Amino acid sequence: MNTSGDYCLHGALLILLLMAASPPHSAEAASAMEKRILLQFKSNITSDPTGALSSWTSSNDPCLDFVGVFCDPFGAVQRIVVHQAGLIGVLSSSLASLPSLQSLSLFGNSLSGEIPASYGSLSLTLHKLNLSRNALSGEVPAFLGQFVGLRLLDLSYNSFTGQIPEELFQNCVKTRYVSLSHNLLTGPVPDSIGNCTNLAGFDFSFNNLTGEFPPQICEPPTISYVSLRSNHLSGTVADKISNCESLDLFDIGSNSFVGSVPFNLVSLVNITYFNVSWNKLDGQIPEISSCGKRLGYFDLSGNTLTGTVPAGISNCGALRFLDLGSNNLTGTIPNTIGGLKSLSVLRLSDNGGIMGQIPAELGGIDLLQVLDLGNLDLSGGIPETLSQCRFLLEMDLSGNQLQGEIPASLYNLTYLKILDLHSNHLNGSIPSTIGNLTNLEALDLSNNSLGGPIPPSLSGLTNLTHFNVSDNNLSGEIPNPGILQTFSASAFMQNPLLCGPPLNNNCKRKRAQRLRLPVIIAIVAAAIILVGVCIVCAMNISAYKKGGGGKVVEEEEKEEEEDEEEEEIVASESTQPPPSVPSSGVIIGKLVLFSKSLPSRYEDWETGTKALLDKECVVGTGSIGTVYKASFESGVSIAVKKLDTLGQIRTQDEFEQEMGRLGGLSHPNLVPCQGYYWSSNMQLILSEFVQNASLYDHLHGTRAHTELFWDRRFKIALGTARAISYLHHDCVPQVLHLNIKSTNILLDENYEAKLSDYGLGKLLPILGSFELAKFHTAVGYVAPELASQSLRYSDKCDVYSFGVILLETVTGRKPVDSPGTAKVVVLRDYVREVLEEGIASDCFDRRLRGFVEAELIQVLKLGLVCTSEVPAKRPSMAEVVQFLESVRTSS
Ligand SMILES: *[C@@H]1O[C@H](CO)[C@@H](O)[C@H](O)[C@H]1NC(C)=O
Ligand SMILES: *[C@@H]1O[C@H](CO)[C@@H](O)[C@H](O)[C@H]1NC(C)=O
Ligand SMILES: *[C@@H]1O[C@H](CO)[C@@H](O)[C@H](O)[C@H]1NC(C)=O
Ligand SMILES: *[C@@H]1O[C@H](CO)[C@@H](O)[C@H](O)[C@H]1NC(C)=O
Ligand SMILES: *[C@@H]1O[C@H](CO)[C@@H](O)[C@H](O)[C@H]1NC(C)=O
Ligand SMILES: *[C@@H]1O[C@H](CO)[C@@H](O)[C@H](O)[C@H]1NC(C)=O
Ligand SMILES: *[C@@H]1O[C@H](CO)[C@@H](O)[C@H](O)[C@H]1NC(C)=O
Ligand SMILES: *[C@@H]1O[C@H](CO)[C@@H](O)[C@H](O)[C@H]1NC(C)=O
Ligand SMILES: *[C@@H]1O[C@H](CO)[C@@H](O)[C@H](O)[C@H]1NC(C)=O
Repeated sequence: MNTSGDYCLHGALLILLLMAASPPHSAEAASAMEKRILLQFKSNITSDPTGALSSWTSSNDPCLDFVGVFCDPFGAVQRIVVHQAGLIGVLSSSLASLPSLQSLSLFGNSLSGEIPASYGSLSLTLHKLNLSRNALSGEVPAFLGQFVGLRLLDLSYNSFTGQIPEELFQNCVKTRYVSLSHNLLTGPVPDSIGNCTNLAGFDFSFNNLTGEFPPQICEPPTISYVSLRSNHLSGTVADKISNCESLDLFDIGSNSFVGSVPFNLVSLVNITYFNVSWNKLDGQIPEISSCGKRLGYFDLSGNTLTGTVPAGISNCGALRFLDLGSNNLTGTIPNTIGGLKSLSVLRLSDNGGIMGQIPAELGGIDLLQVLDLGNLDLSGGIPETLSQCRFLLEMDLSGNQLQGEIPASLYNLTYLKILDLHSNHLNGSIPSTIGNLTNLEALDLSNNSLGGPIPPSLSGLTNLTHFNVSDNNLSGEIPNPGILQTFSASAFMQNPLLCGPPLNNNCKRKRAQRLRLPVIIAIVAAAIILVGVCIVCAMNISAYKKGGGGKVVEEEEKEEEEDEEEEEIVASESTQPPPSVPSSGVIIGKLVLFSKSLPSRYEDWETGTKALLDKECVVGTGSIGTVYKASFESGVSIAVKKLDTLGQIRTQDEFEQEMGRLGGLSHPNLVPCQGYYWSSNMQLILSEFVQNASLYDHLHGTRAHTELFWDRRFKIALGTARAISYLHHDCVPQVLHLNIKSTNILLDENYEAKLSDYGLGKLLPILGSFELAKFHTAVGYVAPELASQSLRYSDKCDVYSFGVILLETVTGRKPVDSPGTAKVVVLRDYVREVLEEGIASDCFDRRLRGFVEAELIQVLKLGLVCTSEVPAKRPSMAEVVQFLESVRTSS
């Protein structure tokens, strides 16, 4: 091409000289013959969609007017260049008659048919033939081998068939470059190619060539470009390629070569591109001690290479693309790879023998765009450092043994399009910060042990086209509406606790409100719980595994996972703060949270409730256990009831079943149950912490002020009645309270009643047993049929207790009082006596202000009916509610 350039330069000089010497018309017009030839060329074009040849008319002069035609100073057509014009038609044989044609370049049209045989007559003049990207067919003409001056031949991207003629390289001393790529050529690469002593490169890629690697390839001393990619070549390579010192690109990918890889090429000074992928090459990758300083592309993938990934790969400092995938490599990933600062693609995938951890040093590759470590045998966690690779577009760590949590810091990878972590052992929950990766197109977290809900933030990933979280332990409702709803059920399957569309199992209506975020935290409890004091701390299971007790924890946890359908976050509990190293004798516990308002991450539990059960925090002692207040850093407080007795409950399953039922109950006048904890020696029930103490405290206790004026008392009575009515009549099966008393009626900041301790029937001491009285601290509430141990208890027992509450509310007296030491006053009997005497107002609470007497009397009477001796005479709670509502409206 240099020579051709020189020629042009000479031509230009000549023109200048001629113009200086003679009048302007001296540049010869093309001969009539040449115009005819060119118009004939045009006549064989059936379609010229862009009008590229519109200037080619009989009235124009080819040299002056025809676009794409260039003449020499004597008016002879020298070059024809019509690129990407979409010309349809055939190559006119007439061009063969152009006496001075040096260059024919028709790249990127749709010319079909064969190269006319007549073109053989161009053998003395043609330097360059570029017919790339057309639709030409037939054989590659052998006569091109007679073109003594041909420097460049490009027939790529056509449909040439047959073999590459041996004669093609008969006279190729001047040939610099030959491309026959992307055709349908068969047969071998001709040996004669070694004749081309000036050959700088050839590209025979993407054909159907067979035979062996031609040993003559390195004979042209300046050969720098060798591509035989995607053919059916076979045999060995390394032994046939010894002195290709000038090589820049070497691509023999996707053939059937065997034997060893010509690794000697890797150290060549000018090598930039080395691709031997998808052959049948074997052997080990040598310790690459010297590497070409310009080597940017290194692809050994898809062979059967063995041995390890050499640490010396870091000597190839210019590498941008490194693919060792789909081989039989073993060993660990050398952390020296982290030193390849220019790397943008790193693939080691599908080498089942590569193990160990992902080197944290990979985070130092600032420009990394693709990290593909899929289907190795890697263990350990996902290093946080990977989030320093800010330009990552694709991260594939699937099919390994990776554990621990998905680092929340991945949000730093703002360009990420593909995140594939499927088929590992990852646990914890899906970080909601994944929702900040707005460019994500594919997210696959399937087949792990991830728990918790699908963060609603994922709904904002509008560019997602592939999404899969199947086969985990996720729970709760699938975010709706949003992009996630566009995926089919198969993307969510095998998460037993996941519900809502597109899955078929609808979230149960009541549970949907309260159980949107069930989170289970398994707690490792020290064997001995100090009385009243217990520190619950949570920590990462992976931290545990480093410790001595790790094995036990892991195994027991696995067992539990198999039993449990729900997801778990593992935490630890101990009697000593902080539980940095668990001692032997750890006990597995399990903490289940129903409520969305509670922190669901173990870090929050760790920092939030340093002392979950501390005697400083005791707020009450109930019939079945002690109640503690625990506060989180976020300001949320919960009431924790530590059970003293399990009543009839024998197993964890039974307990969890009862608690599950509790979690499903929801009424504005019930204290919501927010979760529970089970271990073999400690059981906790977590519920909302209600601010304003209990009705008992206000009526009889320290808080006995005048704040409870009648309106408030009435509202409390009505609210409590509604809550009990809900338990009796709206819940299937019916829930009995069996422990209604003023200490169980809590008041919120608006003095609204919140009934607590409901639904614990099975946890109460066996009804009718001796110990009953002991547990019912205020005997006055207990219906006579219960106290008499007749065991015929029913919802009417609750009605009786509520009746006592009504009396208590109006009179301000305790159900059973002993003003003097000798005398015991039972409230019910006392009110009855007073009413019979006819002066009801005598028993009103003296502190009451602003009341309507008629209302008080109605309520007192209701209280007496509710406390009838015979259960059948007592009204149902639904009737009670109705009556109370009518009391209010009628006054
Ligand atoms: C090309 O054009 C010439 C003259 O215009 C005509 O004779 C010949 O048949 C054409 N060839 C084809 C293949 O159409
Ligand atoms: C053929 O022409 C096209 C368009 O200019 C060019 O891209 C291609 O490199 C040429 N072929 C060779 C071998 O130079
Ligand atoms: C080339 O090889 C491919 C794959 O083996 C085959 O499908 C195709 O038919 C072959 N083409 C020719 C022209 O032999
Ligand atoms: C070109 O190579 C072929 C085969 O290698 C050989 O037979 C032939 O003599 C060579 N021609 C020239 C001119 O060197
Ligand atoms: C490497 O390339 C440079 C510049 O392209 C060239 O001057 C030098 O001769 C080449 N080296 C070899 C060994 O071919
Ligand atoms: C390479 O690995 C594949 C699949 O893992 C296996 O079938 C093959 O036998 C291995 N080959 C060698 C040479 O180890
Ligand atoms: C996030 O990226 C910034 C640079 O933009 C970097 O300084 C920081 O360390 C990265 N954070 C993490 C957690 O990797
Ligand atoms: C994630 O996105 C949310 C909402 O766009 C934003 O408030 C939050 O700061 C982001 N988080 C990070 C870590 O960038
Ligand atoms: C989604 O993809 C489109 C086109 O691929 C792109 O222009 C757009 O920025 C992407 N949206 C987000 C939120 O990244």
